[in-house]
Amino acid sequence: MGKILVTGASGNIGRLTIENLLKRKSAKDIVGLVRDPAKAQDLASLGIELRQGDYLDPASLLKAFKGVDKLQLTSTHAFTDRKTAHANVVDAAVKSGVDHIVYMPIIRKEGSGFVLQEVTAEDIFTEKKIFDSGLKYTLLKHPPFADVIPNYLGKNALEVGVRILAGNAKTSAASREDLAEAHAAVLAGTGHENKSYSLTSEAALSFPEMTDLLSQILGKKISYITVSNEEYESLVLATGVPDFVAKFIRGWVYGMANGEWSHTTKDLEMLIGRKPSTIEDQIRKSFLEGK
Ligand SMILES: NC(=O)c1ccc[n+]([C@@H]2O[C@H](COP(=O)([O-])OP(=O)(O)OC[C@H]3O[C@@H](n4cnc5c(N)ncnc54)[C@H](OP(=O)(O)O)[C@@H]3O)[C@@H](O)[C@H]2O)c1
Repeated sequence: MGKILVTGASGNIGRLTIENLLKRKSAKDIVGLVRDPAKAQDLASLGIELRQGDYLDPASLLKAFKGVDKLQLTSTHAFTDRKTAHANVVDAAVKSGVDHIVYMPIIRKEGSGFVLQEVTAEDIFTEKKIFDSGLKYTLLKHPPFADVIPNYLGKNALEVGVRILAGNAKTSAASREDLAEAHAAVLAGTGHENKSYSLTSEAALSFPEMTDLLSQILGKKISYITVSNEEYESLVLATGVPDFVAKFIRGWVYGMANGEWSHTTKDLEMLIGRKPSTIEDQIRKSFLEGK
């Protein structure tokens, strides 16, 4: 069998996928694609071969994908040319004789007209590109990352309360660690060809419920205050991000508050073979341990 290559190995999901793959496969079977090998020396020191490649440089991808059997396309950053980047990876995979590609679109609620800028259209485009490529595929659909929930609530919630968009819908956010473990299970396993999984947590929570939980965890009443779109964006801007990112974050929070990711499945538990961690775990880690 050929090698398993994980793109985005210098980032969170790519690195965690490789770390989890190492529990199932020998290091010699795993390759990490990186733009800058200096950013993944921790993986190199574990025996992982790093290959240099850029989604926007097709020749580098062709070189990097030699001898690869299974490939994880880790989605690239928003506000880059994501369609071209992902299309280049799929094209290079086909030309290199890759057998099976694993991709991670964001979960889309059936029948919903909700559009997340920089995400929805790019995911639909990439999925079609994969379906049309003839490659075997697995779609590992992601909910919002639970790791980011404390940022949405506001890291200064203890001082100013949770000031957030209105909406009582629940969100089934999952941790990057659990998602990456599911990726590793699919990449190392068999029987996942041409299947889609929705990797949700099982205990979905609404923002008012998260605020109550935070009050319990901190032993202090944290107020829950609904704010307008403009006010939420200005709160996000105050954390030092640019205007377009504040609008992007507001889009995620709007989707969460309005039920775009309230659906739960057992797919994540089935793939990792244990109960996924919870949003509560993440809130505790972040607000009590500062992680
Ligand atoms: N579900 C959610 O809530 C959520 C939230 C945020 C993001 N996401 C999506 O999930 C993806 C993975 O999350 P993450 O936390 O692992 O992100 P991350 O830590 O930013 O990792 C992204 C990886 O993509 C690589 N990359 C970017 N552009 C590239 C290019 N042109 N060629 C080759 N590699 C490239 C980066 O390489 P460098 O180190 O060289 O930059 C990095 O290794 C994100 O990129 C984003 O699309 C999802």
